Order: sequence, then structure tokens, then C-alpha cells
Amino acid sequence: QSMLSLEKCYDEQTLLDWAAKFEGDVVMTPKVDGCACSIRYGADGRLEIAATRGSGSVGEDITGNVLRIPNVPTRLPITSPVEIRGEVYLPLSAFAKLAGEFANPRNTAAGALKQKDPAKSAAVGLRFMAYDVVGLGLQTELEKFAQAAAWGFEPVEHTLLSRAEMQAGYDRYVARRGELDYEIDGVVFRANRVDEQVRLGFTSHHPRGAIAYKLQGESGLTILRDVE
Ligand code: IVH
Repeated sequence: QSMLSLEKCYDEQTLLDWAAKFEGDVVMTPKVDGCACSIRYGADGRLEIAATRGSGSVGEDITGNVLRIPNVPTRLPITSPVEIRGEVYLPLSAFAKLAGEFANPRNTAAGALKQKDPAKSAAVGLRFMAYDVVGLGLQTELEKFAQAAAWGFEPVEHTLLSRAEMQAGYDRYVARRGELDYEIDGVVFRANRVDEQVRLGFTSHHPRGAIAYKLQGESGLTILRDVE
């Protein structure tokens, strides 16, 4: 199953129009500004391979470095293969301790993930936050988060909301942005019911059952002075 992007929106009306197309509640999670990562566990429960998103279908093998992320379990109590998707990120508190070679936590995390020496990679202090469990046939997003947590993953913070509560949920993240120990660049809303996600299907770019309400403020005007 390809790792796709998310559709973006910038206002409540677009969010409401999106949510009008499916049944059931909505799950809200912060859009963590890290590096998308897929971790596959085999039928024997062992962590087999971890990959970056890359093109969506072919990523880079980062297994050695992911095995050294302390909050990634190396074995699961399972009897059929499972894939956990999430974001590898660098906590702001860990970024603050590094001598500033990189511009921001996301670039630092990307660099550390691609680092050839696993000891150097581990020294950076990467963490993993899970946002999806693929292959178990769970029926709701809330069940996926509960399962991921039961296996020892750190699930991304999640809240079940009605449609009327979505804008206020987004506003709360805008207000709390400075308190979180990780950078976020939006708030993700997703149909809680997996059967509804399946019914909505995908475009070539994104699943229709999810949308990212982007945060403002990271953008600005730039003056292009010259092109050589
Ligand atoms: S749900 C598209 N939830 O955002 C598949 N994605 O623009 C559904 N991301 O590469 C993904 N935080 O790695 C989801 N709470 C979150 C997320 C999240 C960050 C990333 C994801 C993907 C990108 C899509």
C-alpha cells in the first residue's frame, strides 16, 4: 500500500465540506513535522524493515537506524505481518542540545535517519510517533491507536470529535503549538471508521478519508533579487 500525501485545507468550510462525505466521527491528530517512516514486522513478530516514504512506493532502507530509536519496539507479539506507519521526529528539547549544524529539527531528523553510522544516528535522539497500523484489519482509528500503544509505540496524540468541534480543535492546537515538544505544521483530520475510508477511496495523490488543516505562519514573502 503506497504512502500517499494528504490533501490540504486552510479554512473551516473546506473541512466541513470534506467531512460531509462520510459517516461517523472524526479523529484529530497533530501533523508532526518529521520524516514519514514505515516499519514492517514479520509473522514472527520481528522488526524486518524500516523505510522512508521516498516516492511513496519505493523508499530508502533505514532499518539499522530505526532499530536504535528507543521508543520503537523490536518485537511484537503477533502471528501475521503488520506495518506501523508514523513520523520519525526530533524532540525540540533534543534539538536544543545539539550544536547547530542543521537548520531545524526536521532536517536534523532526516540527516540522522540517512546517517551511515548507526551509533552517530542514535546519538541525535530521534523518536517515533505512530499514526497508522496497516494489515490487522482494525475497524477504527481509535482501535489502531490503542493497539499501537499496547505494543509499546508512542501513538500520536488523538482526539475523537464531531464535525462541529473540528475548528475549535484546530484552534486549540494553534494555541498549544508553543507548548509541544515537537514541531507541527498542521492538524490532521481523519474519518474514524475504516470502512468509510475504504468507501471514499483515493486520488493518485491522497486518501479522501483524511485531510490536513495547515497552520499559518511558517511562510513569508521573499524577494528574488537575482537568478544566475
Ligand atoms: S495520517 C496520507 N497523521 O504527513 C496518509 N500523517 O502530507 C495518512 N504526517 O507523509 C497519514 N503527522 O508522514 C497522518 N498525524 C498524522 C501525521 C501525518 C505527519 C505526515 C505523513 C505524510 C504526510 C502527508
